Amino acid sequence: MAGVTQTSGQDHWSSRAAFILAAIGSAVGLGNLWRFPYVAGESGGGAFVLAYILCIVLIGLPVLTAELMIGRRGGGSAIAAVARLAKTEGSPALWSAFSAIGIMASFLILSFYCMIAGWVLYYVVAIFGDLFAAIGSEGLGAISGGAFANSSPAEIEARLSGLLASPMQAVFYQGIFVVLTVGIVSRGISGGIEKAVTLLMPAFFVMLLILVCVSLVQGDAGRAVDYLFRPDFAKLGASLSDGSLLGSALGQAFFSIGLGSALMITYGMYMNKDTDIPGAAAMVATADTAVAIIAGLAIFPIVFQYGLAPSAGPGLMFGTLPLAFQQMPFGAVFGAVFFMMALFAALTSSISLLEPAVAWRDGDIDIPVEEKKKRRLRGSIGLGVLLFGIGVMHIYSQVPVDQPNFFNQWVPLDFGQFSGQTFFDFVDTLTAQYMLPIVGFLTSIFAGWVISKTASREELGFKRESRYKAWLFLVRFLCPAAVGLILLKSLGLF
Ligand code: TRP
Repeated sequence: MAGVTQTSGQDHWSSRAAFILAAIGSAVGLGNLWRFPYVAGESGGGAFVLAYILCIVLIGLPVLTAELMIGRRGGGSAIAAVARLAKTEGSPALWSAFSAIGIMASFLILSFYCMIAGWVLYYVVAIFGDLFAAIGSEGLGAISGGAFANSSPAEIEARLSGLLASPMQAVFYQGIFVVLTVGIVSRGISGGIEKAVTLLMPAFFVMLLILVCVSLVQGDAGRAVDYLFRPDFAKLGASLSDGSLLGSALGQAFFSIGLGSALMITYGMYMNKDTDIPGAAAMVATADTAVAIIAGLAIFPIVFQYGLAPSAGPGLMFGTLPLAFQQMPFGAVFGAVFFMMALFAALTSSISLLEPAVAWRDGDIDIPVEEKKKRRLRGSIGLGVLLFGIGVMHIYSQVPVDQPNFFNQWVPLDFGQFSGQTFFDFVDTLTAQYMLPIVGFLTSIFAGWVISKTASREELGFKRESRYKAWLFLVRFLCPAAVGLILLKSLGLF
């Protein structure tokens, strides 16, 4: 038993499997489905994939292990956990500042995550609406047709820009998504988050498997494998020489696992004492990486098959892919499955992004369970309203400039890397390139140097001492050095 007392009556995962599903659900999200495949293709294919896997194993995995350990040993909320552990070790409670930055980062990321998930929801509604209309007019045979059968390719491509240009519609879908997220988180860990992930994650995996099989059979599997895995030495050389390869691989690793955001500290708090942390961390990191690669293998074969170019970022998922679904036999059905799957993945990530703030708002206090439930409900609704408000600012910042409004003109910090960035791009850069790495850096220092070796050895329970030594070396030296260098680089100091 750990030497630190925890608040009684704290909610817990009901089993190890429930925790693993929730953590995988948190990690697997829009970052895997559209960001990874596109970044991999742009930064040298196989070379990027290799750098990414190295970043996951040498940096992501040890930091994930450290976060889970800090959460479970500390208890309370992410801030309370770090403050308590620091005190036990005779260090200043000010260490908990890094958790506070992490909580803010997860909340800010969530504010734009809900906007993008709102777009996904819009596509789910559009594609199902079209499918049902086609079945209504042509009978069941219509399911063998492509998606958006009555739209021209130009109309399909114009859908996302049309959505951006009608902010009230985007606000509506974002609002529904916020309500879903708040509805789940307000019910607590075992009653809300756990129930949602046990329903959504198996469904997600079934859909992903169906899609990847269909895509590999129907599409141009050879070109997709080439694009994703064959090292492009020209691109590799260019990105190695300007140092962007490791930076983008590490940034993607942090975002994809969800590190540096107080999230895994928070999920770790609810872990039972007998769950083996290193084993759980390895499973989460492996599943997350596998899903990213499989998602690439589900997306690119059909993109290439129909002669489309893998364009960048949101364009890939919201413009190119719908075009491929239009030309593909049974494309309406597969398109519907794809966007449903993306919606499920987004929801199991958004609940994890809200949880650190709600756990903090719950406070680290001993009150009867009934009181705790009410407090959580009030806290999640309050934070949901705030989230919705910030989301509206993101949405208005994305409105095309020919319809000027305050937010698409406003540049919050016209300086350095932030120059010219509107609110959404500003928050995206601030969180992913600065806040997450800073918190990751401090987490590894805290876990490696502040927490005593006796405590970390006991809490982690590695089966072999050599593995513990390897972990300690990574969090003490390699992780802070690598993350620190990348931070200095983003600041332009190196
Ligand atoms: N990992 C999720 C994805 O790949 C997003 C996410 C969840 C996240 N929690 C996070 C990103 C915390 C950064 C920090 O889509």
